[in-house]
Amino acid sequence: MKAKITLAKEFRIGDIDKRIYGSFVEHLGRAVYGGIFEPGHPTADENGFRRDVIDLVKKLNVPIVRYPGGNFVSGYNWEDGVGPVEQRPRRLDLAWFTTEPNTFGTNEFMKWCKEANAECMMAVNLGTRGADEARNLVEYCNHPSGTYWSDLRRSHGVENPHNIKLWCLGNEMDGPWQMGGKTAVEYGRAALEASKLMKWTSPDIETVLCGSSSRNMSTFGKWEAESLEIAYDNIDYVSLHQYYGNHDDNIQNFLARSLEVDDFIYSIICTCDYVKARKRSKKTINLSFDEWNVWYHSNNAKYDKWSEAPALLEDIYNFEDALLVGSLLITFLRHCDRVKIACIAQLVNVIAPIFTQTGGGVFEQTTFFPFMHMSNYGRGCALLPLVDCPKYDCKDFTDVPYLETIATYDEENDEMAIFCVNKSVDESMVLDVNLMDFNGYKPCEFISMDGYDKKDENFFDNVKVKPHNNPVPAIDGTQLTVELKPLSWNVIRLKK
Ligand code: AHR
Repeated sequence: MKAKITLAKEFRIGDIDKRIYGSFVEHLGRAVYGGIFEPGHPTADENGFRRDVIDLVKKLNVPIVRYPGGNFVSGYNWEDGVGPVEQRPRRLDLAWFTTEPNTFGTNEFMKWCKEANAECMMAVNLGTRGADEARNLVEYCNHPSGTYWSDLRRSHGVENPHNIKLWCLGNEMDGPWQMGGKTAVEYGRAALEASKLMKWTSPDIETVLCGSSSRNMSTFGKWEAESLEIAYDNIDYVSLHQYYGNHDDNIQNFLARSLEVDDFIYSIICTCDYVKARKRSKKTINLSFDEWNVWYHSNNAKYDKWSEAPALLEDIYNFEDALLVGSLLITFLRHCDRVKIACIAQLVNVIAPIFTQTGGGVFEQTTFFPFMHMSNYGRGCALLPLVDCPKYDCKDFTDVPYLETIATYDEENDEMAIFCVNKSVDESMVLDVNLMDFNGYKPCEFISMDGYDKKDENFFDNVKVKPHNNPVPAIDGTQLTVELKPLSWNVIRLKK
């Protein structure tokens, strides 16, 4: 099949906030224990951080990591995770019905972030706790010295404040599974008061209001409108969460989910702007898509109740999952004027691009690679291509473009990148790219992932599904032509 895209500097959507390439580490399963932290592991450093994992996190170039939950945070006493390790309590975690040893906590995570070149997006407990504990944590983390909580931090060996800039006001507070779940009005009030006190304590911080736990919630939309109505002036972002699965083994339908995400984002933008209009406000609320991924392979896994760091949510990803992950990232960039933060959930072991064996090795899942490409090359601003391509219909969608695409332009470094997914299972796509005013830009690299069976997976010592380099595509002036293989992930990089 044939397709055509046109690109010009004026097709700028907005600057890409690097936090759109964020991730997430929750005290859940083996994300922390056996994931980022495993004292005694052959690669562990003096802090117990697995260096093999840090090396891969650096390859992903993740600028921000959400912590410590997720559902876990709604029952978490942050004080349990600071101070002398031998005095920290073991607690039942009612989010995942496991035992939390608390040998890893806030200061360990902040140290880990430094090693991984990432910032922290910290969540506070608005489930079983509230504004008081939240503002104490902000004081512990961000106040220099001379008060009870800041001096407590110093007595724990952390002289300088962590200066954490971004804070989540709880997690999925509309979910019946959430400890301390709330109605929209109850939550709006709790979030408003917590955010107010947190910002009075540390005026430079930004806060994220919990949106619906997913677009499938019966209160979706209404929840956002009601809680925003209450908390609008005191918060900066609203969160979106969504996970996908190819439950009925229908790849065309599965890959079309990016259209649903597009619609989801658009609905939340409209809801935020509706509240803005009602309030005659000058302030715009942006979006934090702080949980997203494929999640379904591990749904029936069993584990022992109250065990420590059991194997939970350990999806092993296949090639079609990588294609959806790439398509979702492309969709986020299409909305980068409003989506400022997005966190692939999660980073290690728990529905994650990095997978470890406790005491053993580590490998990159199939989904690792599209994320790595976009996070490393998709910087600067996003350009909305004019697309002309064939479309298909499937179970839940009509008019699905076979081509999912976005371009990025890094003006500072005179670089461009074009990211494409060909969703056709059996046809190559000959893509003509009209580069309009990008005179003098020449392709320097063409990376792709293609030729795999849609169910192919990676494993320890067998990273089969991975990118490869192709000959750079032909260019004639500003007219570039490239062939995109059936079911493929493609990155075309250009330099001036
Ligand atoms: O990421 C796994 C879980 O999914 C998180 O704890 C929760 O917020 C969501 O439901």
